[in-house]
Amino acid sequence: MNQKKHWNKIAQTYNEEIFDVFKSDKNKILTGFFNKYADKTKHALDFGCGNGKAFPYLAPRFKQVTGMDISDELLKQARNRPFQNVTCLQADLTDLKQTLPKADFVFCCNVIMLPEFEKNLSMLKNINRSLRKGGTAVIILPSMESYLFAAWRLMEWNRREGTLPEQIDPDELSGFQVGKTDLLQGLLKINGVTTKHYTAEELRVIFPVAGLKIMSLNKVEYSWNSEFSSPPKWMKAPYPWDWLVECRKV
Ligand SMILES: C[S@@+](CC[C@H](N)C(=O)[O-])C[C@H]1O[C@@H](n2cnc3c(N)ncnc32)[C@H](O)[C@@H]1O
Repeated sequence: MNQKKHWNKIAQTYNEEIFDVFKSDKNKILTGFFNKYADKTKHALDFGCGNGKAFPYLAPRFKQVTGMDISDELLKQARNRPFQNVTCLQADLTDLKQTLPKADFVFCCNVIMLPEFEKNLSMLKNINRSLRKGGTAVIILPSMESYLFAAWRLMEWNRREGTLPEQIDPDELSGFQVGKTDLLQGLLKINGVTTKHYTAEELRVIFPVAGLKIMSLNKVEYSWNSEFSSPPKWMKAPYPWDWLVECRKV
């Protein structure tokens, strides 16, 4: 898929169509990490900034923020946000040859989830390349465990209402309508788009390959409304989540 075309097409309806991690973060874990690394003498990069939803969090906490994205349409919206210390740049973050701005802190939220393994690895390597010595990155990635757990919850919900797993409407499990090898690689559909999902162990293997040392692996938890339009009241914790990886340049 051509990422630039895809995201430019979505740009006009981006806020309605694309899941808002910042609003949905149940425990405000993101704010906690932004506070931890806030430093008015430092430069932060928002890797795959989209229309700049992270800017209200980053701009007041850092001296300078650079938002980078492949989509010129989303960057137009990002540039319209009212922050004096934010600059936006267009870039394909899978390109290992480009010159990248140097930063002390990199934030990257739901960008490294392409179907191609090599492109995802290149983006991680580019985060490493852009980090100054001692710099930190906070990276949000889709969780394979959460995806499987949500499907298990759906089965349980159906079972409680007298529907056996094999009687469930296939549309309700359409995200799994992929080939066996895609499934085994965590390549599952979100709204029809093939999206890479990671297991915790896979992250522990891949990050060091990109020269990034994992400091902590955390969950950004969401309510069940993020998975189902009317979840039953009894469906509570554990909640669905994305991974939040706090890592350092090695
Ligand atoms: C799900 S959106 C997340 C945007 C933003 N980080 C947020 O959380 O609101 C994914 C973003 O990744 C960008 N993107 C996808 N592939 C890219 C690439 N190769 N280089 C740069 N940006 C890319 C898209 O344009 C889009 O803005």
